Amino acid sequence: MPDLIADQFFNDPRVADAKRLVLDALREHQSQLTGPRPPRDDLAQSYDDALAAFSDVRGGALYYRYLGSGLGNGALVELADGSVKYDMITGIGVHGFGHSHASIVSAGLDAAIRDTVMQGNLQQGAESFALGRLLLDKANESGASLAHCFLSTSGATANENALKIAFQKHHPADRVLAFTDCFAGRTVALAQMTDRPKYRDGLPTAMAVDYVPFFNHEDPEASTRHAVRVLERHLSRYPNQHAAMCFELIQGEGGYWPGDRNFFAALIDVLKRADVAVWMDEVQTFGRTTRPFAFQHFDLDEHVDLVTIGKITQVCATLYRDDYKPRPGLVSQTFTGATSSIFAAQAIVEGLINGNHFGEAGRNAQVHERFANHLQRIADAHPGSVAGPFGQGGMIAFTPADGSPDAAKRVAHALFDAGVIGFITGSNPARVRFLPPLGVVTDDDIDAVCAIVEQVVTTT
Ligand SMILES: Cc1ncc(COP(=O)(O)O)c(C=O)c1O
Repeated sequence: MPDLIADQFFNDPRVADAKRLVLDALREHQSQLTGPRPPRDDLAQSYDDALAAFSDVRGGALYYRYLGSGLGNGALVELADGSVKYDMITGIGVHGFGHSHASIVSAGLDAAIRDTVMQGNLQQGAESFALGRLLLDKANESGASLAHCFLSTSGATANENALKIAFQKHHPADRVLAFTDCFAGRTVALAQMTDRPKYRDGLPTAMAVDYVPFFNHEDPEASTRHAVRVLERHLSRYPNQHAAMCFELIQGEGGYWPGDRNFFAALIDVLKRADVAVWMDEVQTFGRTTRPFAFQHFDLDEHVDLVTIGKITQVCATLYRDDYKPRPGLVSQTFTGATSSIFAAQAIVEGLINGNHFGEAGRNAQVHERFANHLQRIADAHPGSVAGPFGQGGMIAFTPADGSPDAAKRVAHALFDAGVIGFITGSNPARVRFLPPLGVVTDDDIDAVCAIVEQVVTTT
């Protein structure tokens, strides 16, 4: 049988030549980006004008004066004012292979010659199936039993789908459980669950949420006993009314506090006895610990009913056990993702798996250790400048100065001006965090970034 006409096109030597030319040109131009650079004077006015106009169009100022030029080199990104910065936040955990990585550009070129920009419910490509299969295989490799994977375009949509699936399965239960200081997304329901009053200011109460205190690393046993007691009280106050508990295993927006296996296992034990779904929100943690999924890192595989992922995966997804399969009509949407993001997702997940990122001595752990060692050295050399703990895996944080929101914001902006893009997290204390591009960040990058951190925290 002859090849499909599409395959004849994709495999046309002219297409391969064109791709090679683009990638050669990319390599040549990006190699000029070798370290941070200040903005160019001649671009200052047009950049200011563009930022002001953009703020006006979107209805609010940008957090940083960041307009990308469209080119980068590994952990370095060029901005439209000619400056070059180390991107240690990567769009809040999205660009796991940094900027202009050849494999991601190549995936984008492959996607660009497909017939449609978007894929969705009625128009799926084989790549969506391949990605779902890959994610399920990885999720189930050490004891989980997740049968299905439904793709979507944002972490919030993946979480909404998890909520709907859990509610339908446990109908008429209409409450959920979550940790204090959790972040789940920005829909009306998820803003209700997210433990930040500011994020639901003016919104109607969409759903009843009961909070369980998170793990306290300073007192593991007492905090576990306390959390179990609080959970049991919620369950007895509202018998059979909870559909799911959402677990953010390393609190992201809440301050980069890791949990602990025994703590989670104790809560899960109570939830299983009460027939409440165990839902892992891995939108931020996926790909950042010693295993692809953080529930694997914490050895909770066999307890997981639902898992949501996003950010670094480009395409987001809800994975769930077969006994949670929703009835037709509950979960659907026009888009599952852009063809380019579905292609990039495959490249990124495979890149992480094949790139020695996982395991106790894998690259994620090495990146963490190098950052943590530098931050501890800075804390020792300049008491009061920064404090730990420093997060876990590829989620790195430090408390600057007195931990006030003002201090964190001041340091984050001073870092930006000095050539390092991080972000803030948490509120009590407020912290500065990094989500470095794990797929490309080098030891030299980490050393250079931490030298800038040291200079900023001792002078800001
Ligand atoms: C743990 C967690 N869940 C859900 C979300 C929401 O994802 P998105 O912003 O893609 O909707 C986020 C985003 O920061 C997150 O960190």
